[in-house]
Amino acid sequence: MPEADATTKAEKEFHANVPQESHAFFLKGSNAHDWGMNNRLARIFNPRSGKAVMLAFDHGYFQGPTTGLERVDLSILPLAPYADALMLTRGILRSVIPPASPNAIVMRASGGPSILKELSNEQIAVSIEDAVRMNVSAVAVQVFIGGELETQSVHNMTRLVDEGNRYGIPVLAVTAVGKEMVRDAKYMRLACRICAELGAAFVKTYYVPEDFETVSASCPVPLVIAGGKKLPELEALRMAHASIAQGAAGVDMGRNIFQAESPVAMIQAVRKVVHEGASPEQAFDSYKASKSVKR
Ligand code: 5RP
Repeated sequence: MPEADATTKAEKEFHANVPQESHAFFLKGSNAHDWGMNNRLARIFNPRSGKAVMLAFDHGYFQGPTTGLERVDLSILPLAPYADALMLTRGILRSVIPPASPNAIVMRASGGPSILKELSNEQIAVSIEDAVRMNVSAVAVQVFIGGELETQSVHNMTRLVDEGNRYGIPVLAVTAVGKEMVRDAKYMRLACRICAELGAAFVKTYYVPEDFETVSASCPVPLVIAGGKKLPELEALRMAHASIAQGAAGVDMGRNIFQAESPVAMIQAVRKVVHEGASPEQAFDSYKASKSVKR
């Protein structure tokens, strides 16, 4: 039997006159999720800045040892301390990433075709039980709007959303733009909105220089942008800055970080833009300063 609590009512601190506050969750469109799902989202997105720096290095799942990812242990592990989340495959997670790593994990959960075949012919590639076993903060699935197997890829996403909802695991829908598609705001609005309407907790898309704010405004859940092909570092920082200024909740960049001349300096510069509101020029100055320090 526990000891009786002999404190009198007058001495107890019930604060009967202080109403309990209810707090809105900091990410847009995310109030109606369960606690576990929002706890996971809050590991990816920093609750202080409301933004995320995700490091994407899942490219090998369809294109093999991509430039800069030949040895993930050597090229990526030194960058991990500067990333909020790592976006990767389960093979790389289990073979290379130390389990003591504090990063949130966003697990690539679709796949199938290689670059030699029709890319939209993906299937779900990770069971939700394995995702739970790996303690992931989200699963990611490619959605090919306008692609040959559009419906199959959307169905992959909706099945993952159903399974993720059972366990509180958010789904990141990655809008894959086929070579034949025009990369403009009209396409991105269509693709992002479909993903959100069908249940994605957040969406990854590409920045477009014209009207990106209409893409983020018409997507009711947070958007993160991919980096895309390698750009000169200042241009990549300008893109990150513009996307955040126009409503993105973060970046999920790969090649523009791990193919930079100094990847460690680059991810730090990206952090300055995303979390600290630095201008691209300020961040580029710190990139140059940090690059000149021999690592
Ligand atoms: C594959 C992906 C990649 O993670 C994505 O392309 C991000 O990498 P990068 O910044 O190099 O484009 O989602 O479709």
